[in-house]
Amino acid sequence: MAKRVKNTAKAAARKTAAPKTVATKAAAAKKREDAVFQERLARHHDELRWLYMELYGNDAMFAELCGQMKQYYDQRNGKLKKLDAEREKKSEWYRGREMLGMMMYIDNFAGNIKGVGDKLSYLEKCNVNYIHLMPFLDSPKGRSDGGYAVADFRKVKPDLGTMEDLSALAEQCHDRGISLCMDFVMNHTSEDHEWAKRARQGDGEYMSRYFFYDDPAIPREYEKTVPQVFPTTAPGNFTYLPDLKHYVMTTFYPYQWDLNYRNPRVFNEMMYNFLYLANQGMDIIRIDAVPYIWKELGTNCRNLPQVHTIVRMMRMIGEIVCPGIVLLGEVVMEPDKVAPYFGTVEKPECHMLYNVTTMATTWNTVATRDIRLLRKQMDIVCALPREYTFLNYLRCHDDIGWGLDYGTLSDWGMKEVPHKKYLNDYFQGKTEGSVSRGELYNEDPVTGDARFCATTASMCGVESAGFERDKEKMEQAIRKDLMLHAYMFTQSGIPMLYSGDEIGQVNDYTYKDDPDKAPDSRYIHRGKFCWELVDNIGDKSSVQGGIFNGLERLEKIRRSEPVFNADAPVHTKDYSDQSILWVVRVTEDEELHAVFNFSDNVKTVWMPEAAEYTDLLSGQTKMIDTVELPGWGFLWMKGGAGRTRSRKVN
Ligand code: GLC
Repeated sequence: MAKRVKNTAKAAARKTAAPKTVATKAAAAKKREDAVFQERLARHHDELRWLYMELYGNDAMFAELCGQMKQYYDQRNGKLKKLDAEREKKSEWYRGREMLGMMMYIDNFAGNIKGVGDKLSYLEKCNVNYIHLMPFLDSPKGRSDGGYAVADFRKVKPDLGTMEDLSALAEQCHDRGISLCMDFVMNHTSEDHEWAKRARQGDGEYMSRYFFYDDPAIPREYEKTVPQVFPTTAPGNFTYLPDLKHYVMTTFYPYQWDLNYRNPRVFNEMMYNFLYLANQGMDIIRIDAVPYIWKELGTNCRNLPQVHTIVRMMRMIGEIVCPGIVLLGEVVMEPDKVAPYFGTVEKPECHMLYNVTTMATTWNTVATRDIRLLRKQMDIVCALPREYTFLNYLRCHDDIGWGLDYGTLSDWGMKEVPHKKYLNDYFQGKTEGSVSRGELYNEDPVTGDARFCATTASMCGVESAGFERDKEKMEQAIRKDLMLHAYMFTQSGIPMLYSGDEIGQVNDYTYKDDPDKAPDSRYIHRGKFCWELVDNIGDKSSVQGGIFNGLERLEKIRRSEPVFNADAPVHTKDYSDQSILWVVRVTEDEELHAVFNFSDNVKTVWMPEAAEYTDLLSGQTKMIDTVELPGWGFLWMKGGAGRTRSRKVN
């Protein structure tokens, strides 16, 4: 009896003690978490404050920003915080050779966000472990610029789902080791955004978040120095609002109002939106149109120094609150303007940037069959610090802007305007021997400039060969398509596929039937994903089977061979033929010779020396001296390190 009493007393004591222990544990955990935040904040505080004060000179707003950072940190869930901690230790997590991205429109690919979750197995089959979901935030129908006119940064477009669906998808992805990327459109808002609506009612507080002028002289002054982004579909950089009797700055479409980052309220609120979205489980944030975010009268309003201050601050804010996040900058600019967005090794800005010039130069090489410019471009990229990570791609949701090195081209006799015309004619299939199909975009009658739209497969000839039912041409088209992907996989950085390319999807002309899309030819390569074509991938003789299986082989090789390591030095090699691009990737004891034939003709390729090489495509190792390379064929030959050197000595 006495024993029972004693036990009961013990149990009672336990009962009262239990919540106390839980509470103490929770308090201790909170203390540890707070310490992590404080430590991160301390690491960046002085620089962040310095930059903030330099730009805004506003102590109170800076204090508000710090307070909000702590709030978003507190709201960040445990799983994400754990991921942050892991990634802090393994800061190169996103650069591995196993990384393979795919960008897609949610509705085209799977109807809605939940649908994407149901299709993750297919994406795994594509070896994809990084998904870029094209803009999905609330955006007015018919005035959305493909979702890049955001009306609410905290609401998913209702037909695509909800914020909860997004977080659930992020969790599903993380469970499978897949990273998720979304756009953060920070240059502008939709005219339907709450701020824009209030500004339109004449509320000065909100008008100051945009650029409003009642005097036409100022917009006129800007127009003298600011180029046009959409000269045909949305000419000029301002829109007149008759109801308000004001001009508003609209660099892109008239319904996309440029935000005024001189106003610290804009910066702070947009940073809160960034952190809110990061907390939904995003891994990669694509900063849309970043070069445009600071405006200055008398300049071209591109790449101004303040843009770098803002991106640097954003990087630090991310590292304090959610260090697992990677910033991908969309800098579609000439080469010397791109690399500065990496910042410096001590003061980094973006983690990743699009390799836009290499992409455009690749297509230039397809049309000219002359690799010289591509080689020059590759040499520039290869000379950059290895820490710089590029996102390589062949096609994306946008047009190809033909941003090439015209200085060099004109030294070789190719002048800018006629050369662009040649490229556009070639890719529209108007040039003798061209198999490409596609359409012009934003043809500028003043400058004679035009950009180009089409899918990879259509540009490689899959569409025209299919139409002509020409088997031989189709084989050549598939070979070209695979070669270009192999070239992209060989480059230094992360490869990014465009959804549909893995099954060779061709141009979709049905956009012309939709009045909202018809004026914008970019919709030619934004068609619905053809699931019925996926059924063919098991049949290797089909177009889809040929491309899908061909890509799969390349992806597996890339993932398993150390020569594809992010830090493996890459260089180009001299070769006597202007259509042969030779790229070498080197590790301590291996060398990859990646040789690409940018011509219709068979070429004999002489290896650096007659020696033993492993053909990574067939897996065979043997003595090789020369190889016959078909038109648009390529080689991935692995040999022992030092072979290139020995040839040079010879
Ligand atoms: C980016 C997007 C493009 C969009 C523009 C304006 O360049 O890639 O599609 O039109 O930003 O937001």
